[in-house]
Amino acid sequence: MKHLISLLDWSRDEVARALDLAARFKKDPLAKRDALDGKTLGMIFEKSSTRTRVSFEIATLRLGGHALFLSTRDIQLGRGETIGDTARVLGRFCDGIMARVFEHEKLDALTASGRPVINGLSDLLHPCQALADAMTIIEHKGTLDGRTLAYVGDGNNVAHSLINLAARTGLTVRVGTPEGYEPDAGIVEAARAEGAQVTLTHDPAEAVAGADVVYTDTWASMGQEDEAEARAKLFTPFRVDEALFSKAKPDAIFMHCLPAHRGEEVTDEVIDSPRSVVFDEAENRLHTEQAVLFMLMG
Ligand code: CP
Ligand code: NVA
Repeated sequence: MKHLISLLDWSRDEVARALDLAARFKKDPLAKRDALDGKTLGMIFEKSSTRTRVSFEIATLRLGGHALFLSTRDIQLGRGETIGDTARVLGRFCDGIMARVFEHEKLDALTASGRPVINGLSDLLHPCQALADAMTIIEHKGTLDGRTLAYVGDGNNVAHSLINLAARTGLTVRVGTPEGYEPDAGIVEAARAEGAQVTLTHDPAEAVAGADVVYTDTWASMGQEDEAEARAKLFTPFRVDEALFSKAKPDAIFMHCLPAHRGEEVTDEVIDSPRSVVFDEAENRLHTEQAVLFMLMG
């Protein structure tokens, strides 16, 4: 059974195929309007979401299927029913499961459903975001090969999936974080072992120097709200403002998975500048997710 729990679950060819399909769906959203005819995607959310929820729901509709929004505030999972039992039950009803969870291991537990499982964000990874990011870089920079993405901020789920993207494409990833907030060492090592070009630094200017893409994300992810104040002080030098952005190539683009905390990890000036592609990036969640659903459930 094929899943998308990590981008590393997919080969280079599968990632390339998803990106080709996504470009096709962007041009012709109803090209495969019957692919999920009569099929249902169960979507479990332990955390808030705008883009992931809306894009998966619409992507499923465009393939002729139906998506069910299952907030853990409403289903028995939130009252203590086990993830394994929930998985087995949903497997009897649904043809695929997408889940946004805190602990990454819950996604593995959901495979007990016997259905494809898609990671809609865990504390560890955000593979669907990385696919949309790849599509966006290709649209604006022509290719991923030989391009350098500088990620500055917290070494979090989004950073981890961008590192995985470097292991599945020709993208080089430079990560700049404060000390103690580096990406997971195991994820970095695994990517490098597969030939990925990944470098780490604690100097934001060094991370960004000459990059094609400057990327950032929130300093305190969902579940880390109580650390926000302490992190804000440490992370201030990593804010993407005009001064930091100007160290990248003159035609560099700015990316952010959103939601943005304007004035914290990025200034209005940068996120609203003509070189910001954040809304293309958000839109591409829809097209790449349509490709993912087609490949796993079509
Ligand atoms: N980028 C992203 O996953 O956004 P949501 O939290 O709104 O789904
Ligand atoms: N790193 C952020 C991404 C939100 C889409 C979080 O996990 O909250």
